[in-house]
Amino acid sequence: KKIIVLASGNGSNFEALKNENINITHLICNKKNAYVIERAKKLKVPYTIISEKNKIIYNKKLFEKLKNLKFDLIVLAGYMKILPPEIVNYYKNKIVNIHPSLLPAFPGTHSIEKAYNYGVKYTGVTIHYVDEGMDTGKIIEQEIIKIDYTKNIDALETQIHIIEHKIYPKIIKKLLNI
Ligand code: GRF
Repeated sequence: KKIIVLASGNGSNFEALKNENINITHLICNKKNAYVIERAKKLKVPYTIISEKNKIIYNKKLFEKLKNLKFDLIVLAGYMKILPPEIVNYYKNKIVNIHPSLLPAFPGTHSIEKAYNYGVKYTGVTIHYVDEGMDTGKIIEQEIIKIDYTKNIDALETQIHIIEHKIYPKIIKKLLNI
């Protein structure tokens, strides 16, 4: 089974998936200086950078690239763009995302910080299918964390990333039946 990963930034989830022997056949990144590119080079994963400012042209290039690749699942891992309806409809139930909060609470960016600053007692990690909304697709799995406010936000971030790196490979393997 093959997956392709879409990422924009650091790429720690990308590396965690690769380290769990998931067959990532391609990485697509929209930021040419993203650290995930260095990880792809190191791990010998073929990659494509699409750094196009115009949204319509960007989405067209992305869709063309996707159509030229063979895969069973598209995995978003820190991909900071919304996929257009034509792509999510074409790949219905074939695109998943991981989000660092208990959705539907705190969608979008800076979710860990927003949850911590709001003062919620519990937060966590959500894995969900991707639809045309922002972090709104059907939920596949969630893991809960009780926030320890005697510790700073960095400690919470670390804890969330550890959970992400553990559950994302596990759930993807389950979805792929491997
Ligand atoms: C993760 O926290 C993920 O939940 C969110 O973006 C972050 C990506 O981190 N969608 P990384 O690039 O995988 O290190």
